[in-house]
Amino acid sequence: MFNRTRRLRTNKVLRDMVRENKLSTENFIYPLFFVEGNNIKEEISTMPGVFHFSVDMIKEELNELISLGIKKVLVFGVPNHKDSIGSESFNDEGIVQMAVKEIKKHSPDMFVITDVCMCQYTDHGHCGILSDIGVVKNDITLDYLSKIALSHALSGADMVAPSDMMDGRVSAIRQTLDNNGFKYVSIMAYSAKYASNFYGPFREAAHSAPSFGDRKTYQMDFSNSDEALIEIESDIEEGADIIMVKPALSYLDIIRRAKDNFNIPIAAYNVSGEYSMIKNAISQGLVSDDIIYEIVLSIKRAGAGIIITYFAKELAKKINNEN
Ligand code: PBG
Ligand code: ZN
Repeated sequence: MFNRTRRLRTNKVLRDMVRENKLSTENFIYPLFFVEGNNIKEEISTMPGVFHFSVDMIKEELNELISLGIKKVLVFGVPNHKDSIGSESFNDEGIVQMAVKEIKKHSPDMFVITDVCMCQYTDHGHCGILSDIGVVKNDITLDYLSKIALSHALSGADMVAPSDMMDGRVSAIRQTLDNNGFKYVSIMAYSAKYASNFYGPFREAAHSAPSFGDRKTYQMDFSNSDEALIEIESDIEEGADIIMVKPALSYLDIIRRAKDNFNIPIAAYNVSGEYSMIKNAISQGLVSDDIIYEIVLSIKRAGAGIIITYFAKELAKKINNEN
C-alpha cells in the first residue's frame, strides 16, 4: 500500500478545490513615489514600470488602481530640499503631505499609508539625527519621527509605517498620535527590517542612499533570525497594529517564524531589488512572466497576508482576468 497523492491532482477542478493559498487583490499594497513640481510622470530608471509622479499627475494612476481593485497605497516622497534634520519631512505642506491630501481629495476611499522615515529628507541620507561623530542618535530621532507621523495624520493618512528601525519609535508615535486625536490612525511597523543589498533600486528612486557609511547600526544583520522575533515582540508591545518583515523573498523563513509565533497581521515588503531582478530576467526572456505570481504567492504561503509589492498592478490584471 502507498499513498496516491496524485489522485487530487488529476484535473483542474480538483486542483482548484484543494488549493491552499491564492493571491487576491486584497492582499496588495502598492507603493507610490511623489516628486515636487508639475506635470511629471517619469519612469524610474532602476525600476521598469514604476514612476515618479508630481502630485497633479496622480489622478489617472489612482483611477487605474481603483479599477483594478487595489485599495491601499504606500506613499513615499522625494523632496527637493534636504538638510541635517530633514525638515521637509514634517512640513505640513511637504511632498508627502500634499500627496496624501490630493489622494484623499480625488479618491476618498483609497486607504493611504505613509512611510515614516528621514533618509529621503536628510542631507546625509541616514534615517535619523546624527551626532558630531556621525552616529545616528536614537532618542532624539524619536521626537522627529513623531512629528513626521503626526503631520502625515493631519494631512489625512489612515496608517503610518515607520521604516527607520530606531528603538522605541512605535511607542513614541502611538503616544503622539493618541495625544493629538488620532487614536484610530494605525501603525504598520517595519519591525524586522534587514540591512539589505536589495534596496539598491529604491535608493536610486528615492535619492536616499546614505552619503557615508551604511545602515548596519540600526537595520538588522541578515544573519539573524531569533533577533527578528525580539524586534517584532517589542513592536507589538509598543502598540504596532501590523508588523512587517522586509525584504520578503530571501526572508521567507522569517515571515514563517513571525506567523507561527505571533497572532497579529503580518506584512512583507517585496522590495525594489527583488522586483527589478525579476523584471530584468523576464525582459531578457530568461523566464516567463508567470513567474511573478509564483514568487509573490510564496510570500503569502510563508505567512504574510499583506504584501507590499511593485507587482500589484500586473498581478491584479492577471487575477481579474482569471475570475
Ligand atoms: C526608507 C525605506 C527604504 C525602503 C523603504 N523605506 C530604503 C532603505 O531603508 O534604505 C526600501 C524599499 C525598497 O527597496 O523597495 N527607510
Ligand atoms: Zn530611512
